[in-house]
This record gives sequence, structure tokens and C-alpha cells, in this order.
Amino acid sequence: MNVVFIGFMGTGKSTLGKLIAAALSYEFVDTDRLIEEREGRSVAAIFAADGEARFRKIEAEVARELSRGDRMVIAGGGGFPINPDNIELLRKNGLIITLTALPPVILERVGRDQTRPLLHVPDPLQTIETLLRERAVFYRNCDLTVDTSGAELNEAEEKCLEFLRKKGIINGKNQS
Ligand code: S3P
Repeated sequence: MNVVFIGFMGTGKSTLGKLIAAALSYEFVDTDRLIEEREGRSVAAIFAADGEARFRKIEAEVARELSRGDRMVIAGGGGFPINPDNIELLRKNGLIITLTALPPVILERVGRDQTRPLLHVPDPLQTIETLLRERAVFYRNCDLTVDTSGAELNEAEEKCLEFLRKKGIINGKNQS
């Protein structure tokens, strides 16, 4: 089985994903980093040179490849679940966890980050709110939702671990 984190930019997919991967002794894979390694250029550079459609195509190829893997914690990019095929593929042998956060918290975490091309706009808070509304239906397509708006990462981590225990991915004492 795999564990797949989805959710908007700045909701903590990579941070929490790494913690959960360490707890499970699973490999951690971030789809954006994988795409960047493959392409030899940054996500921002792919968007700038070839457009979002090309990026989404590479993202779908990566989803297909990862769906064949096992014992991985996968953090998808924020737009990863917009293509329902990506989720259906990973759901076959994976549990999907959506992370959420309030728009101002997201802005605080990623607002000044130059690596997110979709937020290079005059009013990033408005863009965050609009995209969240548009994407809500896709982010709901999951097995568990955890809000990370609070400062306590431990709490979000514990909620994920409790869920994975219930699902039999880990048991109480042996975390592998
Ligand atoms: C995107 C989110 C980014 C990255 C790309 C597009 C999105 O990933 O895939 O900039 O559409 O929300 P993170 O959520 O890891 O920032």
C-alpha cells in the first residue's frame, strides 16, 4: 500500500508526508520534485516555457508510474487531483489523505514563494480563495481530511497515524 497526500499549496503535504514516511519506514516521493528531476528544470520553468497543460501531462505520467509502486508516501502537487485519473490510479493500492488550511494561513506559508507560478498574481489571496472553491470537489475525493491551519504539526501527524493504524497500515508498536 501507499499513502498519498493531496491538497492545496502550503497545506503541508511535503512536511507531513516526510514525517509519515519516516514513521512508516516508507520511501517519500514528492511529485513536483520527481517531475523536476526528470525534466532537469523547475516547475516554474516548465510552466513558463511550455505552459500548465504540459506540466499536467507530465504529472499524469508520474501518477501512472507511481501507481505501480509500493510502501511509498506520495505528496502530490496542489493540482494533482484535478485530473481524477491521477487519484483513481493511486487509489488502487493507496489511501488518499487531503490536507487543508485556511486561505490566510496558506498565503502566509507560500505567498512570497517564487516557486509557485499560479500565485504570481497581484492578489494571491483572492486567487487562493478562487482556486480552493474550484478545487473543493477534487480535494473531497479522499479517505481522510486533516486541517493543518493550527501551529501544531504533531496533532495533524497524530491524526494521520491514527487513521493509518485503523486501516491496518501500522500497528501500535511496530511502525513498519
Ligand atoms: C500547483 C501546486 C504546486 C505545483 C505547481 C502547481 C497547483 O505544488 O505542482 O506549482 O496547481 O496548485 P505544491 O502544492 O507542492 O506547491
